Amino acid sequence: MPDTVQHVRFGSNSGQPVSRRDGIAKVTGAATFAADNAPEGLLHAVYLSATIARGRVTRLDTAAAAAHPGVVHVITPANRPPLQGDPDDKPTMFSFRIEVLQDDSVRYAGQPIALVLGETLEAATEGARLLAPQYEVEPARVSIDAAPSFDIEPGGFGRPAGVTHGDVAAGHAAASRAIDVTYETAAQYHNAMETHAMVAQWDGDRLTLDVPSQALNMSCAAYAYFFGIPAENVTLRSPYLGGGFGSKAIPIGPHILAILGARMTGRPVKLVLSRQQMFGPTGHRPTTRQRLRLGIDDAGGLTVLDHDSLSATSSFDDFHEPAANASQGLYAAGALRSVHRGVRLDIGTPGPMRAPGEASGSAALECAMDEMAEAAGMDPLAFRLANYAEIEPGTGKPYSSKGLRDCYLRGAEAFGWAERPLQPGLMRDADGLLTGWGMGTALFPCPMFAAEARATLRPDGTALVETSAADMGQGAWTSLAQIAADSLGLPLDKVEFRAGHSSLPDGGVAGGSGHTATAGTALHEAGGDVIRQLGEIAAADPESPLHGGGNAGFHARDGRLYVNGDDSRSEPFAEIIARAGGAEISGNGRGTRAPEVGEQFAMNSHGAVFAEVKVDPDLAQVRVTRLVGAFAAGRIINPKLAESQLMGGMIWGISFALHEEAKHDPVSGRIVNADFAGYHVPVNADVSGLQVITVHEDDPHVNVLGVKGVGEIGIVGTVGAIGNAIRHATGKRIRRFPIRIEDLLTA
Ligand code: MOS
Repeated sequence: MPDTVQHVRFGSNSGQPVSRRDGIAKVTGAATFAADNAPEGLLHAVYLSATIARGRVTRLDTAAAAAHPGVVHVITPANRPPLQGDPDDKPTMFSFRIEVLQDDSVRYAGQPIALVLGETLEAATEGARLLAPQYEVEPARVSIDAAPSFDIEPGGFGRPAGVTHGDVAAGHAAASRAIDVTYETAAQYHNAMETHAMVAQWDGDRLTLDVPSQALNMSCAAYAYFFGIPAENVTLRSPYLGGGFGSKAIPIGPHILAILGARMTGRPVKLVLSRQQMFGPTGHRPTTRQRLRLGIDDAGGLTVLDHDSLSATSSFDDFHEPAANASQGLYAAGALRSVHRGVRLDIGTPGPMRAPGEASGSAALECAMDEMAEAAGMDPLAFRLANYAEIEPGTGKPYSSKGLRDCYLRGAEAFGWAERPLQPGLMRDADGLLTGWGMGTALFPCPMFAAEARATLRPDGTALVETSAADMGQGAWTSLAQIAADSLGLPLDKVEFRAGHSSLPDGGVAGGSGHTATAGTALHEAGGDVIRQLGEIAAADPESPLHGGGNAGFHARDGRLYVNGDDSRSEPFAEIIARAGGAEISGNGRGTRAPEVGEQFAMNSHGAVFAEVKVDPDLAQVRVTRLVGAFAAGRIINPKLAESQLMGGMIWGISFALHEEAKHDPVSGRIVNADFAGYHVPVNADVSGLQVITVHEDDPHVNVLGVKGVGEIGIVGTVGAIGNAIRHATGKRIRRFPIRIEDLLTA
């Protein structure tokens, strides 16, 4: 079994492991991130964060702040001018209610309660400190048990529906063995390398923003709404992001405050959130408590998969982690039920965070599957092979393609799963460390949003392709350019790729792991449009060797146009254009999916993750020593970048399983570990032995490119695999993530 990916080449560019085209700019510091911008006359903004979780601000010493040298302006609810759009409104698909000093109430710790503008960052910081807020404090509700739960009313983004397929009561009754287990996952806060940042400048009623964005044009529309200007008056520049992960798809209150500060002072304003400020208004993955009831018949087949998820949200908005959805698409149980319930706490509104729903939900599901296998005396892989669905459970739809079985088999082979003893606690390494092997299944949907692109073939035979699509750092600029180059029949170095600016054709949302599929399809269509036009010109030109070849059709390769099926008839692009008068040729494309495709097919990426952990028998320290993930995600455009994405997801899986947890002080409601000293993420020493296998799928349905998506699925499956490996090493089943040393010592 090969342990490297078999690279499948399509065109001359797609399928090749090209390095990031912007890599040199990034590592040499030539790439400008939002916070690197410093226009003439810049003011620095610092907002004051609430230190209570619920109550009212009763006093701010604005006089002291304003008197501090270098402080230019102080904005509080008392002097904040009204916005044209209500901050409780949600102007775009991915919007949440925002806190923009609309009143003196405090709804979570870390909420902005005043903004100070200064000539220097130091002056603004000191001005904010001098505000010395006083509060009327109400008791904070920050534990998942601190408030009653409620049924989520489904409808739209952040409000997942519950789904039932089959007779759940009958499924429970038919079970000859059953488990009823409850898992908890901790709150995680967005901590991209680049914290949120913005530079805002007004020119009359035109607004220019430097801000990292996963959804440029949608963000323009939201900012425009709040300030009562047309969306086309907003120019948004987002050439580089230092990570996004779902957080930068959504306009946040601090952004609006920066724009407001620029409006009020008539000067450009820069706001950069501190690391501590990332634990509040920027979205997070909320705490969940998930009850799973599974039953099997005598043959080991699931009779029921019953998943109830309770998750925390804010007191004033609705984003509910769709964790129970993880149980809907994977296993062929006789009956399926997912239930989503919420609890309102004094916390910032949660939001999408890399694999929202699937990550938390599969952590619980995959551990529960392991518990069920153990109750049945079955090998965990054999149990999954016996129960994964060949058609989508519940709906009965066929999958557009499904490489899951290959993921199981190839992952297991590469890992050496066959050597695994069934009983836990039997493996020790040469150093006496308890060793355990566990696995988990990964599933992620393949959404497509809508994107537009433009391709322009220049008279010299090179091309320019444009879409406002963002690159979050994962390499989208490279893989999208590879798609564009193939669509134009050009080598990559002949294609200039422009993105990250709102004036370009709307590249849509870099989210849901659907960006390559969506923007890629738009680019593919745009290039195809250019080649079609070029073919029309050549076919009509008596001097072209392609003259009259229109019936056979044309294709483009290496900068030449060829008659289909006759390689002896071809001509360079530049010559066709030159004879036609030398004008460039422009084409447009749109990426989206016809609704009937989704009605006909279930579309998912799949995977299987195998983990080895070693646990110190005395100290209960856990290390993940090997992680093998096999993923089937359709066609891989750039194996190097896709493997890097999948690996990044698996590393977040390690983080989820063993490290990340935002801890609230139960009295103040503040997050007490709101920095990288106390909020743990894996470092290099925590990550070793990673192996990614991609299983190729030819998917003729998912989109014209056959691309699914690799951005999020790496986390899914990994968390459960690690939890299961810890059980296998120690014999201890910990039903709470992250799994801590104290959990293992006291279990
Ligand atoms: Mo993502 S959580 O779809 O950026």
